Amino acid sequence: MKSLITTLGCMVLLLISCGGEKKKIPNNPVPTLENTRQADLKKSIRSEAGESKANDKAEAQEESTMTKEQLATAQKLIDKYKNVSLDNAKKIFKSSCAICHGFKGNMMINGAKDLTKSKISLKESVAQVYFGKGLMTPFKGVLKDEEIIAVSKYVETLRK
Ligand code: HEC
Repeated sequence: MKSLITTLGCMVLLLISCGGEKKKIPNNPVPTLENTRQADLKKSIRSEAGESKANDKAEAQEESTMTKEQLATAQKLIDKYKNVSLDNAKKIFKSSCAICHGFKGNMMINGAKDLTKSKISLKESVAQVYFGKGLMTPFKGVLKDEEIIAVSKYVETLRK
């Protein structure tokens, strides 16, 4: 009888410790490519389900990771090159961006965002192109400032 109680006690302890272990698994795993994809997938499933904005609030904050300074720089560049010609923008997009975004912007290679479904402002786009974000490399110094404005404006024309 005593050993039975001990065995039961052990099992209970084991169960409790297992439960405790489970809780220790981090909620926010390291942002690997796979996790990013899953997060994107979850997001799109949720937006298809038409869930309330309250739920997306956290996500929205997460998305706007560009700093105020970066956004201010972006705005300055937009103002400075507001009359930039888009003649070369398609060419720039093909040579610098299509490797991840595809020629039509919807390829999403390397976790890239679908640009045809993008809803972000020009300022946010310019900031991301200029300073980079996540797996997207920064184009500051790689492309000329006016080219960054032109290609960011061109990207908006890819939206459906
Ligand atoms: C190395 C692959 C890669 C290249 C090259 C690349 N991008 Fe990206 N791009 C990404 C990734 C990855 C994201 C998503 C970043 C994130 O949110 O973490 C992204 C996101 C973006 C976004 C934001 C879309 C949104 O709705 O959030 C824009 C705009 C964008 N890219 C434009 C460009 C432009 C313009 C170029 C070329 C000058 C370019 N990208 C080149 C990988 C790339």
